Amino acid sequence: MSARVVHVVGARPQFPKLGVVLRAQAAAGDAEPLVVHTGQHYDAALSDAFFDELGLPAPVAALAVGSGPHGQQTGRMLEAIERSLMTLRPDAVAVYGDTNSTLAGALAATKLGIPCAHVEAGLRSFDRRMPEELNRVAVDHLCDLLFAPTTTARERLELEGLGARTVLSGDVSAEAVLHAERLAESRSRILETLGLASGRYALATLHRAESTGETALPGLLRALEGAARRLGTLVLPLHPRTAAAIDARLPGWPAAAAEAGVRIVEPLGPLDFLRLAGHASMVLTDSGGLQKEAFLLGVPCVTLRASTEWVETLDCGANLLATDAGSVDAAISRHLTAPGERASRRARALELYGDGRAGARIVHGLGTLSKEGRT
Ligand code: UD1
Repeated sequence: MSARVVHVVGARPQFPKLGVVLRAQAAAGDAEPLVVHTGQHYDAALSDAFFDELGLPAPVAALAVGSGPHGQQTGRMLEAIERSLMTLRPDAVAVYGDTNSTLAGALAATKLGIPCAHVEAGLRSFDRRMPEELNRVAVDHLCDLLFAPTTTARERLELEGLGARTVLSGDVSAEAVLHAERLAESRSRILETLGLASGRYALATLHRAESTGETALPGLLRALEGAARRLGTLVLPLHPRTAAAIDARLPGWPAAAAEAGVRIVEPLGPLDFLRLAGHASMVLTDSGGLQKEAFLLGVPCVTLRASTEWVETLDCGANLLATDAGSVDAAISRHLTAPGERASRRARALELYGDGRAGARIVHGLGTLSKEGRT
């Protein structure tokens, strides 16, 4: 009989990664997929759209924890995940990425003595003000098996004394992009719907707590306006957190930004988003995942942060860090004057992140983990 693995997810960026592992699990003839959804993300555009478009199975448990301050949200998840795991009694648990759902899943499983694996282990931005950085460090040290996406991540885990629990799996989100790219091209009509021409617009996202706070938000919005003036249309699918922050603090911004060329749209499903990113002239983002997706798609990126956990994206100039209007403008100039080849950026990204077999290695590792038990 194959291992019963519960996959704990809850926030938007985790769903495509889950899809990669579940496809590999199905290909290996493994047992039925057992997904526990914490409900950290609950808006249709942030959750249901991903389950529908990526063909993910309905969760066996939908915990509907919802939003809240970190302690409250994580605490509620911990309690609800523990209850689910006690009922489901899996051989192993898999957690993904660096969200509060990841932390709660790892803590609940390991405290129950259930072996737990961390997909996307060993990433560090070294910025401890980021809640995700605290989650990454805690989850890596809690888990029994660590799937490192890159050699940099594996080396980091070795430095932290976690080498024996680490497997170099390759990167699941790279595999997710490779899988969904063609699907997006054939199914998404987003360019047509928005009336956009390939290569004639830029794409921006902004959602992190650090970006949407009182201090950072006005400067970053100014930077986006400046970017729109330089690059023509700048499409901005707006995360609900950012929309709420703009409403509360800068309600006049959308009108002024529209004049500069910023085009605010609702959050998009995964296929529309991927197609939009793939045809953009440039991506500006504070997201972790999108920086790397842009690299894989061959699109130059400006990351609106002072640090990144995906350090390899910086080495060949495909990704530049910038935190205010001046440095964003300078980064755009650098990309425009040294555009580089889309194809060579993509080839480098594939070398670093994607041979497309991370899912298979993870499923193999999960099988071993459930046999060996906790370390
Ligand atoms: C979370 C992750 C972040 C990830 C992001 C992807 C943590 C600490 N952060 O951040 O790493 O990049 O997901 O989007 O886990 N909200 C809604 N509808 C929803 C979900 C959230 O309106 O379906 C609003 C609520 O006002 C909520 C706010 O967005 O308070 C923030 O949501 P939360 O899940 O706490 O964090 P994210 O910013 O989404």
